[in-house]
Amino acid sequence: MAGLREVKLPEEMVLMRKAIDITCEAQNELMRKLEPEMTEYQTEAIVEFVFKMNGAEHEGFPSIQGGGPHSCVLHYVTNRRTLGSGDLLVSDIGAEYHGYTADVTRTLPANGKFTSDQRKIYDLVLAAQEAGIREVRAGNQFRAAHNAATTVISKGLKELGIIQDEGDVRRYFMHGTSHYLGLDVHDAGSYGPLAAGNVITVEPGIYIAKDSPCDPRWWEIGVRIEDDILVTDGDPINLSAGSPRKAEEIEAVMAE
Ligand code: GLY
Ligand code: MN
Repeated sequence: MAGLREVKLPEEMVLMRKAIDITCEAQNELMRKLEPEMTEYQTEAIVEFVFKMNGAEHEGFPSIQGGGPHSCVLHYVTNRRTLGSGDLLVSDIGAEYHGYTADVTRTLPANGKFTSDQRKIYDLVLAAQEAGIREVRAGNQFRAAHNAATTVISKGLKELGIIQDEGDVRRYFMHGTSHYLGLDVHDAGSYGPLAAGNVITVEPGIYIAKDSPCDPRWWEIGVRIEDDILVTDGDPINLSAGSPRKAEEIEAVMAE
């Protein structure tokens, strides 16, 4: 059954695209509405309102709305804190539509503008994600995206002086980069070589918790960027391109 779920049929792709489109619209609406002094549960409410207004029956998984220190907590779902002006918000969400779930993460500055330090980390995660997405090709090993993203993040953190040894990257990027997506958010599959019709996430991140062994200017910066990628016989297709990822594009939508 896992093997069957790994390659999506055209009929399944119709439902997956719908779940992903609804999720992108929810992220975009959050960008337009987000303000400092909102609570994490209010940002969750904005997202899940858009899900339901567009016909999604459920959330594919509990919505992660991690602001400030919580941007550095993996699978944070408490969602009770009030956002401060300089906080980042990691919004990791997925609408479920007719059984199929999306999984898209955007990291937003609560006040609409990244600080220069936040931007350095953000652009590094984006570069890692781009390197990862380039590896999502039929015949490549499942881990190729993770290996490419890890290389970019290790080098970048070293250049910023956050780590001294590239081997220390796991302290700040402590999870895998990809999983299958479908009926479950972490869908069944073999984790063997990629094949046309697979849909996987590419979601690198950097999480610098308070008291980390680096300059305190970096503390409480947590960034993850996640998109849903379709493997084809040619170039990868980003199914969640409907929600902007570049920092300046996010700032432009937030200014609307
Ligand atoms: N979106 C949550 C996860 O991928 O684990
Ligand atoms: Mn994910």
